[in-house]
Amino acid sequence: MRTPEGVDIPAYPFPRPIGELISPPDASGYPVVSRVLLPTGQTAWLVTGYEAVRQLLRSPAFSSCVFAPGFPRFHGRVALPTSPTGFMVGMDPPGHTHLRRILIPGFTIKTMRQFEPSIREIMVGALDAMRAAGQPADLINEFALPAPSMVISRLLGVPYEDHDFFQSRSRVIVDRSFSPEQRGDASQAVHDYLADLVARKQSEGESHDLIGRLAIDRVAAGELTTEEVVGVALMLFMGGHETTANMIGLSTLVLLRYPELRERLRQRPALVDNLVEELLRYVTILRTGVPRLATADVEIGGQLIRAGEGAIAMTSAANRDLAVYSDPDQFDVDREPHPHLAFGFGVHQCIAQPLARIEIRVALTELIQRFPALALAEEVCDADAWDDAVVYGLRRMMVRW
Ligand code: HEM
Repeated sequence: MRTPEGVDIPAYPFPRPIGELISPPDASGYPVVSRVLLPTGQTAWLVTGYEAVRQLLRSPAFSSCVFAPGFPRFHGRVALPTSPTGFMVGMDPPGHTHLRRILIPGFTIKTMRQFEPSIREIMVGALDAMRAAGQPADLINEFALPAPSMVISRLLGVPYEDHDFFQSRSRVIVDRSFSPEQRGDASQAVHDYLADLVARKQSEGESHDLIGRLAIDRVAAGELTTEEVVGVALMLFMGGHETTANMIGLSTLVLLRYPELRERLRQRPALVDNLVEELLRYVTILRTGVPRLATADVEIGGQLIRAGEGAIAMTSAANRDLAVYSDPDQFDVDREPHPHLAFGFGVHQCIAQPLARIEIRVALTELIQRFPALALAEEVCDADAWDDAVVYGLRRMMVRW
């Protein structure tokens, strides 16, 4: 591809190789840091090496502010409401630090373990509903998508009957095949719904769910504004649905491709924690990577990146770095535990990791136990891959049991 200045550099995101439905595009032939051309015509530094990605994501010389001029983008317009107050993932310290401190207690391992029975109840309910609807069934649309949508709705305190509204809008927001306007409108609709919900909880004066507690207690204490609570709710809803849903779908495909894994899990259920970590590494669903904008000159992986230039941490490539993982393209559930970067790194590292891990673990465990003979009813093909999504996943997967 040619830059506007006439220089040949590779186009990014790299296309998914035909027929490859699970592994991210191979970046092993690329240098640790190299220049790429984005669909917006911007150029950015693509960082692929494990150590260099960590260096980039922990460096204070980079901003996460998506609205800053020059921020590397894959589309002309950001699919966010115009004023994303409280949208922590797109903020820098000190505002980011303040919000993150307030949210952390809601996502600790301990808090999430207390929530685990609710997660299990939702997963089991969704699996029972899939069974009741009969086979063959589309596992993506009947289980992988609705179950995390119900989990995040329950966590946030969104009434159950509204989760369909959320699920349909959420698909549009993260699907780049919709126009930026359509995506922006969908996120505005969710934002407006959440603003109403927050106002309702405040007028009721008592609430035990995450959003209710923030909307009542933290606003009363002067630590958050009501608009910030709405932004936080929107961010959690957007971050907490498609990610886990796509992980559950792709993880199921991995389990179907390696039947011996299912047998080993049945014999040794404790293996499931390792399985989840290896799945997160191997699949790394945030395919376009984690973008940043340099605010000062800084050297990353031996390359000088100047203030005002964009950089993209390609975590999927870092998770297959030969310097860190032996035989990285092999799915190996017995791999020595090593911190993968599927949840990012540094100050923005995914705040909801404990929740995501529990959701994937419970979903897979219940699926294996309840459907021991699960098999593909149709081969999954390229048309089933969801290439336009911010978070890679499958659109459909027909199964029988
Ligand atoms: C397998 C599932 C998930 C994956 C792979 C994932 C991945 C990530 C990554 C890579 C980041 C860092 C972004 C950056 O540095 O710019 C991130 C941040 C974040 N994630 Fe997740 N995530 C998952 C599940 C969730 C869930 C379930 C929620 C909410 C309920 C969530 C909420 C967030 C939030 C709020 C942030 C921003 C943290 C901050 O800016 O401090 N994520 N996630």
